[in-house]
Amino acid sequence: MFSVSNVSKHFGEVRAVDDASFSIAEPQMVGIIGRSGAGKSTLLRVLNRLADATSGEVWVEGEDILSFKGARKREWQSNCAMIFQQFNLVPRLDVLTNVLLGRLNKHRTIPSLFKLFSAKERLDALMALDRLGISSIALQRVETLSGGQQQRVAIARALVQKPQIVLADEPIASLDPLNAKIVMESLRDIHDTDGLTVICNLHTLDTARQFCDRVIGMSEGRIVFDGKADNLTTEVAKSIYGASEDFEESMTSTAIGSDNNKPSREDLQIKELSTVDA
Ligand SMILES: Nc1ncnc2c1ncn2[C@@H]1O[C@H](COP(=O)(O)OP(=O)(O)OP(=O)(O)O)[C@@H](O)[C@H]1O
Ligand SMILES: [Mg+2]
Repeated sequence: MFSVSNVSKHFGEVRAVDDASFSIAEPQMVGIIGRSGAGKSTLLRVLNRLADATSGEVWVEGEDILSFKGARKREWQSNCAMIFQQFNLVPRLDVLTNVLLGRLNKHRTIPSLFKLFSAKERLDALMALDRLGISSIALQRVETLSGGQQQRVAIARALVQKPQIVLADEPIASLDPLNAKIVMESLRDIHDTDGLTVICNLHTLDTARQFCDRVIGMSEGRIVFDGKADNLTTEVAKSIYGASEDFEESMTSTAIGSDNNKPSREDLQIKELSTVDA
């Protein structure tokens, strides 16, 4: 159970998040949509404790995680994996080491990168890469990878954290449609196979409809829609995006949900994610 209760985050006069409340009773794949500046990133940052809320509570298993300080706050952050638009990897380090960095918060002291990660941790990291279909590049430096590969490394890093929940802030905004599809399918698989809640900020309606069970629409910091992706009609979308009469959904569209000629998984030659044990 995950319950966001009257959470606000103000920056001076700006109400970036304004009295947001929602609950997630069972693991769900949730998309948060809204125009630029609606407060999507700020909400995720508050949930992950990267930013402090101005007011409100977030209840997880009977505890208000917004009240956590010090070691408990770090523990929450390690249980709450975060995936970013710009990947946030260390470019000069190899893929495997970047994935192992997801284990850092689980160590009491900062381990020397090569010596103190256990064999089990290294195996887990390799298996996470294998699950994402990129184990063959484990020893390659991250700076040599494509954006799509980098985001899959970031997802593998999130997996080795063994998180309770995964937050993704515009994970596909920097990717081409093909890689966007792979990344969204990987996030969906984390929900389907591992039974985790995944909350994903998305710019585009079609992606939310295609991959999410539930969609939360934000406008000017407020939650203005919360429901099944199927109920996200064009009228509702207009209200979320505060759009004028000439609003067309294609304005919020990427190609991944709308292209009939999109390649199949076989074309992409990626592994069936669900056949690999976590
Ligand atoms: N650190 C900050 N200091 C001051 N204002 C901020 C800060 N972070 C966000 N804001 C403001 O809060 C509001 C919400 O921003 P936020 O980044 O959460 O929106 P968003 O929905 O993620 O937008 P985008 O789709 O462009 O990423 C905006 O008005 C923004 O300018
Ligand atoms: Mg944002």
